[in-house]
Amino acid sequence: MALLACILAALALFTTPLVAANADTSAAVKEIDRATNASLLWGPYKPNLYFGVRPRIPKSLAVGLMWAKVEDYTSVQHNFRHTCEQHEGMAGYGWDAFDPRRGGRQTIHDAGNQIDISTEFVKIPGGEHGGSWAVRVKGTPRPDAPENLKTTVITYASLEGLGNVGVKDDNAEEPGYQGDVNFLGQTPELGKFVLKVTKGKGEHPGEEHPEYQKKPLDHTFVHSFQVPEQAIWQVKNVLFAHLKQNVEACVEEYGQEHMPPPEQIYTIINKPGLGSLHLVQKVFEGAFEFDVLYSSASAPKEVTSEVVTEEIKAITGDFSKRYDEVLKPQAPFDDEHYEEFSKSLFSNLVGGIGYFYGDEVVDRSYDPAYEDEDEGFWEQAAEARARNEPKLEGPYELFTSIPSRPFFPRGFLWDEGFHLLPIVDWDIDLTLQIIKSWFNLMDDDGWIAREQILGAEARSKVPAEFQVQYPHYANPPTLFFILCAFTEKLKSEVLSTDQETVAGQAGSLYLQNHAAAVQYLKDLYPLLKKHYFWFRKTQQGDIKSYDREAFSSKEGYRWRGRTPRHILTSGLDDYPRAQPPHPGELHVDLISWIGMMTRSIKDIASFLGEDDDVDEYAKYYEAIVRNIDDLHWSALHQAYCDATVDAYEESTLVCHKGYISLFPYLLGLVSSDDKLGAVLDLLADPDELWSDHGLRSLSRRDALYGTDENYWRSPVWLNINYLAVAALHGTATNATSPHAARAAALYNDLRRNLVDTVFDSWQDTGFAWEQYDPDTGKGQRTQHFTGWTSLVAKIAAMPEVKVAKWADADSRHDEL
Ligand SMILES: *[C@@H]1O[C@H](CO)[C@@H](O)[C@H](O)[C@H]1NC(C)=O
Ligand SMILES: *[C@@H]1O[C@H](CO)[C@@H](O)[C@H](O)[C@H]1NC(C)=O
Repeated sequence: MALLACILAALALFTTPLVAANADTSAAVKEIDRATNASLLWGPYKPNLYFGVRPRIPKSLAVGLMWAKVEDYTSVQHNFRHTCEQHEGMAGYGWDAFDPRRGGRQTIHDAGNQIDISTEFVKIPGGEHGGSWAVRVKGTPRPDAPENLKTTVITYASLEGLGNVGVKDDNAEEPGYQGDVNFLGQTPELGKFVLKVTKGKGEHPGEEHPEYQKKPLDHTFVHSFQVPEQAIWQVKNVLFAHLKQNVEACVEEYGQEHMPPPEQIYTIINKPGLGSLHLVQKVFEGAFEFDVLYSSASAPKEVTSEVVTEEIKAITGDFSKRYDEVLKPQAPFDDEHYEEFSKSLFSNLVGGIGYFYGDEVVDRSYDPAYEDEDEGFWEQAAEARARNEPKLEGPYELFTSIPSRPFFPRGFLWDEGFHLLPIVDWDIDLTLQIIKSWFNLMDDDGWIAREQILGAEARSKVPAEFQVQYPHYANPPTLFFILCAFTEKLKSEVLSTDQETVAGQAGSLYLQNHAAAVQYLKDLYPLLKKHYFWFRKTQQGDIKSYDREAFSSKEGYRWRGRTPRHILTSGLDDYPRAQPPHPGELHVDLISWIGMMTRSIKDIASFLGEDDDVDEYAKYYEAIVRNIDDLHWSALHQAYCDATVDAYEESTLVCHKGYISLFPYLLGLVSSDDKLGAVLDLLADPDELWSDHGLRSLSRRDALYGTDENYWRSPVWLNINYLAVAALHGTATNATSPHAARAAALYNDLRRNLVDTVFDSWQDTGFAWEQYDPDTGKGQRTQHFTGWTSLVAKIAAMPEVKVAKWADADSRHDEL
């Protein structure tokens, strides 16, 4: 069916002037690149910070925010907010509304500092250099705050690379600025620009120490530092070192007993000038508001506070309208609480998109021990890892979303395909940019590092032993989800008689320009192919040595890099596998991933008219589907299982029922209705995977359920649950499937359980979580996990399916 659609699409293409339009096509592609670059140049692309703006340029201007309550001498250092951290007294934070092309609003409920900070970020197109932008920063004391709550706020601007930034109005002799502070700057990529920090609104602490150097707190203080490039990101350290000098000088002068008040001591010395790092400090009492306005000199007009007021209103209004069209929660979630929740999770997913640049640590020794070929291979591999010297390589750049701003503020390969699933509905072209960025990281062999820890700032969040990337490590190829979705949309466009409906859907330049879209896939295709064959080769399993009977003697796969406790490369870290590890193992999740990848690349090849390749992929695909049955189906356990080799060198199945047993179904590779029935039995059984809060990662009946690290051994994960929801929806709406009615009931129940579980925890705690407890439904592990947990927005937007009367929800556990 899918293949037929692809063939039709390929034929239809010959009627469009694909080949003849070459010059036009490359012009169109350039134009799309230019437009995309302009509207995506700026963003809050330092998602590791509560607020950090930078352009998608390797070395350039960056603007960030820090603040603290200054009520006493001792807690100030501890109260300074800059990088997102878990458990520092936040009652939730993040984007309530965000559109990556235009901007949005973030609210930070800083309970520890007794203040709510909002950052309203707007992009204003115009000019030659990616437009202008602005952020309005507002502080609103929380109900428990003292009436005269004192808050110190520092905006900073830093510059890496060529160019300069300096203060326009030099008043180094003055104690500070009474009005706006204007910076002028220029860089080769940004041209000339003005950066203005407005005076803003708000009261200031009045009491001054009689003798202390005159520093009226209704002034704004500016200090310019010349900081070495590699230290610029450590702006908090620069600030603290500077403040420490002040405090020590004060202690010396006045003694502990007669110190000036803390809000005065913890101010920087006004010393504006040229520099690579400029701090701009304001001290407020109670509520406050000010703007940071960046105007490209090439834009027709300078940005003003009035423009910001108008724009933020327009942007949040348009966002809501568009959200209703694209991702509006459907029944039974059609009330405003779910809508707010869904918008918040989606906005945090897209608001978490970052731009990263820097070198990364790679072990390129290609040590033979990394082949994992001998028994005891994990010990040899560990010795090799200890012996080999990883090196820095790069620098590389990456445009990507991230799993969690406080804890995983960097790119993760297999997370990214899941992240892009909700985003592809909102902005296809953005997802295509991100995919291109990932594939540009591929090395000559076809390998992409699964965790992208680019640069010192990113590395500062990761223990040294986890920084090293190994070019024999794979990770689930989820980016193919998006390429498949894109190809499907293109095909439906070609086949559609009503082109408007498709093209109008996402305002996508690629969908509106078919030839450019084809060109995008054409350019990417060689990389996809290389990656695909790298995968098959490096993760090859051994079928022949163990007398395994299978349709194909080639299609069997084994994750490399496993240890007795973990297969980190599978993404399912501690999920139970064969013990001890064996070079004869075959992993059912991996062959399923490769099956999905094969089907996707086959469809893309077919769309592009690469007919020889299509034939080749089709053969692999058939062999994979057959081998999943031959190598991984246990008639005894009525489940798909990993295979290994026992003490007698016999091939045998190892069945820890759980997520891996679902993979052939999740990725569309189940060959028969009988097996599909068995998968549904496993999925629906409350003594196995089913819980009121989503599907458990491991069967409750498994001896290892909930044991050891208990990471993937019972908790509910949203990424796998999303795949289950999508697969059930497919079965539920398949009129010829004997399991349609049952799948419909399961689909509705699972969908409801998942949305309610994530919603309830969000209401309780203010956060989305990495995973959920299958018994209590409580969110756990990483806080503010707005990566794939945000798939819940997409789940909520899926339609409820009508269930035939005779198959109500209660019958789902019955035998068929
Ligand atoms: C994007 O815009 C920046 C700033 O104008 C420029 O330096 C960069 O080369 C552009 N990139 C592309 C791919 O056009
Ligand atoms: C629907 O179910 C039938 C019966 O199992 C199967 O042959 C067919 O491929 C399914 N259709 C789709 C689109 O999955």
